[in-house]
Amino acid sequence: MATSVRSFAKINLGLKIGPLREDGFHELRTIYQTVALSDQVRVDVSKGLGLEIACKDPRVPDDESNTCWRVADRILRSLKVRGKVRISIEKRLPVQGGLGSASSNAVATMLALEKELKQPLAADERLRIASEVGSDLPLFLVGGTVLGTGRGEQVYPLEDLPSFHCVIATPEVGVSTPAAFADWDKRCAAILADRKLSDVKLTDKESLDRINMFSRTIYEWLNGSFTPTGVPGKGRDRAEALLLDLVRTGIENDFESVVFPKYPAIREVKRALERSGAKYVSLSGSGSAVFGLFADQESANQAVKKLEQNDIPAQATVTLPRERYWNELFGAGRLNVIGA
Ligand code: C5P
Repeated sequence: MATSVRSFAKINLGLKIGPLREDGFHELRTIYQTVALSDQVRVDVSKGLGLEIACKDPRVPDDESNTCWRVADRILRSLKVRGKVRISIEKRLPVQGGLGSASSNAVATMLALEKELKQPLAADERLRIASEVGSDLPLFLVGGTVLGTGRGEQVYPLEDLPSFHCVIATPEVGVSTPAAFADWDKRCAAILADRKLSDVKLTDKESLDRINMFSRTIYEWLNGSFTPTGVPGKGRDRAEALLLDLVRTGIENDFESVVFPKYPAIREVKRALERSGAKYVSLSGSGSAVFGLFADQESANQAVKKLEQNDIPAQATVTLPRERYWNELFGAGRLNVIGA
């Protein structure tokens, strides 16, 4: 018997890049939010040895460079079990889209494999394996609204945001995350050169101040103390009030400043979403996916129509609070076609 797990996507509600660390990663702060679009991952274990990955999408590697492979290999070692593990991935999310699909696939593999082996891992062991394999994996062990710190792998469940209507546009461009980080470093170096500053420590401090300011703003927003206009009022529900305040916080994704100049078509997608009435629009991760949050389903559906008329692939969905995330993981609901 194989185990199937839905592998949901995430978006980033703001992302601030901090200083480059000695280990080659960047310190960052972000709010991850799981959404209801998903891939499907199926794992089965039989007698024998070895790992096998099957996916119809040729862009998905079938060797140890695949995050699913790396997770499965570590789990077998950790549990000291042997077996032939087959992982099939039904890909619906974009590859290199900034929606965390490869990371989510890996966590789905972890959960399915544990179930297949009937040997649950301890929670800290799960987190250890996930963070070893990639910065974006641990968030999928929490789900819902999640604060990401460190290199993104230190995750803290936040009080869940209500479910927002969301449109995710997926321009057919793959953006490499390491390249986007390298472009960010070049940009910072250029700013530094412009200011003729040689004291790198000073800019590291500035950089840390920026990311800490982000954390403060986010906490104030989530606590409802950001601005008094955020109080749910006549004709406005809590979701809409929170959305309006999110815009007022001014939080943004730092990757936009390096990805948009390199791929102007992605900036155009953001503008198209803004024109179609989204309350908050942002690049997700390092892109290329751009998401818009909407006050209601009707305007989200209209936005998808307009984007598609302009040959921009887009889907309407909803953000996925934690409880629903976990309820749907092993379920066979219809969340992938919200509004259909
Ligand atoms: O952790 P993950 O495998 O997703 O990271 C891929 C690459 O992205 C890293 O090798 C690094 O170049 C870059 N990265 C970074 N800072 C982070 C996360 C990723 O520089 N916080």
